[in-house]
Amino acid sequence: MKDIEVVSQPLKQLTAKLADDLRSVDLLIRERMVSQNVPRIPEVTQYLLDAGGKKLRPILTLASANMFDYVGHYHIYLAATVEFIHTATLLHDDVVDGSLQRRGRPTPNLLWDNKSSVLVGDFLFARSFQLMTETNNLRVLELLADTSATIAEGEVLQLTAAQSLTLTEEIYLQIVRGKTAALFSAAAEVGGVIANASELHLEALRNYGDALGIAFQIADDLLDYTDDNPAFGKNIGDDFRDRKMTLPVIKAVAHATENEKAFWVRTIVNGQQQEGDLDEVLRLLKKYDAIEKTRADAQHWSYKACASIECLPECQLRNLLCGLAKYIIDRLS
Ligand code: IPE
Ligand code: IPE
Ligand code: MG
Ligand code: MG
Repeated sequence: MKDIEVVSQPLKQLTAKLADDLRSVDLLIRERMVSQNVPRIPEVTQYLLDAGGKKLRPILTLASANMFDYVGHYHIYLAATVEFIHTATLLHDDVVDGSLQRRGRPTPNLLWDNKSSVLVGDFLFARSFQLMTETNNLRVLELLADTSATIAEGEVLQLTAAQSLTLTEEIYLQIVRGKTAALFSAAAEVGGVIANASELHLEALRNYGDALGIAFQIADDLLDYTDDNPAFGKNIGDDFRDRKMTLPVIKAVAHATENEKAFWVRTIVNGQQQEGDLDEVLRLLKKYDAIEKTRADAQHWSYKACASIECLPECQLRNLLCGLAKYIIDRLS
């Protein structure tokens, strides 16, 4: 594992540069995550909040608003909104995926139950809508409402397509764009919208978030097969056990021999998994260089993210956003 201090530098610098705003976001989140009469809601939301999280999406919103010298406080509302949307999707996602670990801790669906996660997730979605309407900005509402629908589409597409060996890289990209990149993209753009950035600059922010989100999800899917470091906060092999066709597997399946195809049909399509199967997956990924190829794809999207914002005015925040795209890839080494 590479020196974590070095690779996490851009995220740390962004967090430091935006520290005052992030504190305000945190306060607003704490204020709005509670429910006066229903204790289960703050129990779950407080638990998730205490576990931390990188706050990548609020950072994007704050960075883009500040880059265009926004004066006002609505960027704080929007940063809290995107974090609420994110947290709501995590609650739902861990139920759908049957995940037991999140942010290095047992998931709420494990600690409480699936019903609580679904319903508290709904509550956070509703809270996010309340927050965004307070900005009185129709364009912002349209963007974030569209994004919420796109995320749900991505998750449902994955649900219906994931356990089939015919899932192509193209469909994978469509899933990832929906479930992950859409929110990164909206988080970056919405900060520019509230700061009245030009259409050209908004497009740059949108494309940056899209490419960053894709790089991030590809990296996350790769780490699911490569990272047994507890700092990752999730279990290795979860995607395989969940029979998910993620990019490394798609690449190995594409070159499978007849015997290997039978292995993939048994484990992914039929879900008949036994001891030693994960080791066999790791062997096949190695055989077809699937890890390296997936890493190269993530790298491509990371470069693309950086290139997308070259047209923005040169400033420290722009450079840090570019650094963030590199950090996402560096954590793979
Ligand atoms: C996790 O996102 C969900 C994915 C898109 C892979 P993050 O890794 O940004 O989650 P936290 O908020 O930092 O825990
Ligand atoms: C997370 O997708 C994307 C959303 C929460 C919408 P994954 O299921 O791939 O991410 P992890 O591995 O649970 O964080
Ligand atoms: Mg998941
Ligand atoms: Mg999922």
